[in-house]
Amino acid sequence: MRNAEPEDLDQVFLIELESFKEPYPRWYFDVLYIISNNGEFFLVSLDYRNRVDGYLVAVKRKSNVCHIVSIAVRKDCRRQRVGSALLQSLFEICESHNPNLYVLEVEIWNMSAQMLYTRHGFNYIGLIPGYYGDKRHALIMAKYLPGMLVEKRLY
Ligand SMILES: CC(C)(COP(=O)(O)OP(=O)(O)OC[C@H]1O[C@@H](n2cnc3c(N)ncnc32)[C@H](O)[C@@H]1OP(=O)(O)O)[C@@H](O)C(=O)NCCC(=O)NCCS
Repeated sequence: MRNAEPEDLDQVFLIELESFKEPYPRWYFDVLYIISNNGEFFLVSLDYRNRVDGYLVAVKRKSNVCHIVSIAVRKDCRRQRVGSALLQSLFEICESHNPNLYVLEVEIWNMSAQMLYTRHGFNYIGLIPGYYGDKRHALIMAKYLPGMLVEKRLY
């Protein structure tokens, strides 16, 4: 597990292509790399041959909110705790940045992702109708850290 480097982004894009019906375009990962503090919140997981087998991108939205923009794992590596390790690494990295809240959107039909997030302490806090397209609603999930104060307006 390490911060993404620009040379990882082609492999990240291949994972994106096999993971989503409407993948982000390749150039968007260059943008994500920059807005994720030049890779600080853009994590890649590598296998024993140094191939990228998963990635996670997050962005700090406010002083205490971390927005998970995207996470995906190579198809042949799923259910091997790669997604869990990516989330766990993000939580560790973020500790020094004092986030009080992690927030993300997930499609209402995407049960595997919801199971992953629930397992890592996320709860459902809202719904955005049509966020991904016609009848493709997004659930908003959030993980609150104990003893925190959260700004009311997240978006
Ligand atoms: C969602 C995703 C990132 C999960 O990654 P992963 O590496 O397979 O997840 P993990 O192996 O860490 O799973 C941890 C737990 O999450 C739950 N989970 C993950 N995938 C699951 C599935 N397909 N069905 C049911 N539960 C699942 C399980 O509780 C699992 O623990 P277990 O294997 O001990 O039962 C992966 O399926 C993926 O890349 N999907 C396509 C992209 C995507 O949907 N991204 C999320 C966008 S919001």
